[in-house]
Amino acid sequence: MKAIVVKDEAAGTAGMTLAERPEPNPAPNDVVVEVHASGFTPGELTWPGTWTDRLGRDRTPSIPGHEVAGVVRALGYGTAGLSVGLRVFGLADWTRDGTLAEYVAVEARNLAPLPGDVDFTVGASLPISGLTAWQGLFVHGRVQAGQSVLVHGAAGGVGSMVVQLAREAGAYVIGTGRAADRQAALDFGAQEFVDLQNDSLEDVGGVDLVFDVIGGDVGKRSAVLVRAGGTLVSIAGPPEARPADGLAIDFVVEADRAQLGEIVQRVRDERLRTNIGNVSTLDDAVAAFNPAERAKGKTIIRVRP
Ligand SMILES: NC(=O)c1ccc[n+]([C@@H]2O[C@H](COP(=O)([O-])OP(=O)(O)OC[C@H]3O[C@@H](n4cnc5c(N)ncnc54)[C@H](OP(=O)(O)O)[C@@H]3O)[C@@H](O)[C@H]2O)c1
Repeated sequence: MKAIVVKDEAAGTAGMTLAERPEPNPAPNDVVVEVHASGFTPGELTWPGTWTDRLGRDRTPSIPGHEVAGVVRALGYGTAGLSVGLRVFGLADWTRDGTLAEYVAVEARNLAPLPGDVDFTVGASLPISGLTAWQGLFVHGRVQAGQSVLVHGAAGGVGSMVVQLAREAGAYVIGTGRAADRQAALDFGAQEFVDLQNDSLEDVGGVDLVFDVIGGDVGKRSAVLVRAGGTLVSIAGPPEARPADGLAIDFVVEADRAQLGEIVQRVRDERLRTNIGNVSTLDDAVAAFNPAERAKGKTIIRVRP
């Protein structure tokens, strides 16, 4: 099968190549998904699981991509809950070959049914962004109506979902990002926008929840904005780059079938708008992930037309 592979961590997305790889076999509890659309998260090439398996052994050349929408084509021994021919979407395992390929083997519990009226391209844009936003806001951040939420990177993949879900929950939302992101963040529902290049973050004053997707200096400067009893949830960068005062909740997104169902239902109801930018083919994926100009929105690879 055709797949995108990486071998060299230092090369980043520039080291991606289109290659021929063997089709995966389903292990017990797995399904093999015929991939129709695949999502890739910036930063994933720095995650350890891209390069090593669960036992820490080198697994290159590895296939990146952890978001998938497609059709179940085979079931592993003992796999329950999904059937051959079912449309599905969800997260591929972190330490195995991913979704930038014609087929991927995934643990069945990491997938949810994709309703027939939701396009595969939309389905592939939701699992990481949607679940990360959901878990950061509702599971870790415990957001309540009437609270104020500062959302960094509000025009990005995760941030645009956070803004919309926080508004639906009744929060007051302040988005941040680059100057060029202002209108997109406001269109997703942010009530204010802080341009991190030109405005002063400190002018925001106290907030109940910070959702940080940027980390580093931005994360550290955000920690002081959290009111007593508030929370800073952080998903960006290595832990050593995050505020070290015990205030931040760092988490890694987890697969959750019920939450995927909540998210896709909101897309169908038009309560949640996806943030899809460029849609490309597998043959053109390397160029799509190395754009000459700054790309807006999530790049989705449409593996089958
Ligand atoms: N821990 C987890 O479970 C988890 C889950 C999902 C994502 N992540 C991580 O979270 C991060 C965000 O993911 P994403 O999919 O939302 O990425 P994204 O779509 O690129 O969104 C990030 C947004 O923040 C902006 N931004 C980044 N640095 C900035 C800065 N210094 N000043 C102003 N704006 C800045 C980006 O602008 P530019 O595009 O111009 O840089 C972009 O609009 C990535 O590092 C990803 O690896 C972690």
